[in-house]
Amino acid sequence: MTDRAEHQYQAMREHFHRAADQRGFTLAPAQQAAAERLSRLAGELARPAWRLRRPPRHLYLWGPVGRGKSWLVDTFLDGLPTPDKRRLHFHDFFRRLHQGVARHDAGPRQSARDGAAVDRAVDDLLGDCRILVFDEFHAHDAGDAMLVARLLRTLLERRITLVTTSNYPPAGLMPDPIHHHLFEPTIRLIEERMDVLDVAGPVDFRRLAPAQDRPAPSDLRFATGAVLRPGQEAAAGLTPPGPEEAAPVTAHHRELPARAVREAEGLVWFGFDALCEGRTAVPDYLALAERFPTLVLDGVPPLAEAGSDGRQRFANLVDVCCDRDIRLILIGADPMTGLDPGSPLQRDLDRTTSRLALLRQEPATAP
Ligand SMILES: Nc1ncnc2c1ncn2[C@@H]1O[C@H](COP(=O)(O)OP(=O)(O)OP(=O)(O)O)[C@@H](O)[C@H]1O
Ligand SMILES: [Mg+2]
Repeated sequence: MTDRAEHQYQAMREHFHRAADQRGFTLAPAQQAAAERLSRLAGELARPAWRLRRPPRHLYLWGPVGRGKSWLVDTFLDGLPTPDKRRLHFHDFFRRLHQGVARHDAGPRQSARDGAAVDRAVDDLLGDCRILVFDEFHAHDAGDAMLVARLLRTLLERRITLVTTSNYPPAGLMPDPIHHHLFEPTIRLIEERMDVLDVAGPVDFRRLAPAQDRPAPSDLRFATGAVLRPGQEAAAGLTPPGPEEAAPVTAHHRELPARAVREAEGLVWFGFDALCEGRTAVPDYLALAERFPTLVLDGVPPLAEAGSDGRQRFANLVDVCCDRDIRLILIGADPMTGLDPGSPLQRDLDRTTSRLALLRQEPATAP
């Protein structure tokens, strides 16, 4: 290592320890190993020589929910002394990519096959970026498969080092057996070109203590949300909307029927049916998250009773609210009871359960 690389490696190790101390964390062994590997990467990125040859190896961190993967990569990025760095969340990245592809070409799916529009959209998105953190990498349908395949090839061919987190080991990506084979070439590419780190461990840190006994982390608005039964709205300082409050809200290129829009409180209120059983998609949730710091969803059923699209949309909505730090208040049944543990969506639903564990859960009151 050159002096500069050695210095940056040591600086990043110390940065991890300081960041953990500040939060009162004891790093789990798998986190320590990952922090060490990320510190080495910081050292490699400080070597001027890599700019001339090829960039340092890409990293793929995967593990069960709540093991501190996002914390690791966010802390890493925060400690990197370069402006040429980007952190993108999976959903947001795809929204921007689709928008970019549409700008460069009429048909996103077609473009994903011929690739040029994807390449140009990636150029627009990443500019001079040298290190890209891509949080919550996953793929679910045939459209994702093509776009992700092209995107990965584009990124891996570029002088960008990619660091991703995922709940899936590479071989488990695209869990639906109907589509899995479409993704096998991409899985091989990941296994060849990325160093795969298993950030496992017995503890989901989000569930260390029941949310009621733990003050919400003051820097996390999401954790000030709640899961309520119907009739408990007052516990979250809410008054159920009257019919006169119903209003359309413009999301991503469409209007969605809200039960209430309370601009002064930065709050929008929807029924589960309108937001998760209608033809909505992640870009709609992102558009809402950009406008409203609080989102209330009532009529929440046990997800076992919702359609599979409704389940997936709900999981996406919770991901977006958590990543964008939106206060989420759910009113209805406990959504996570009675789910089939063998479903291909299980890892996504585990992620949802883990995130919802951060919210205050009002116990059901006796009738
Ligand atoms: N060693 C630790 N001790 C206690 N809490 C931790 C530790 N590491 C991370 N955390 C906290 O645990 C919570 C979950 O961490 P994080 O979001 O990084 O998990 P994740 O592995 O990315 O989960 P997911 O797969 O669900 O996205 C965060 O609030 C984070 O600050
Ligand atoms: Mg995460």
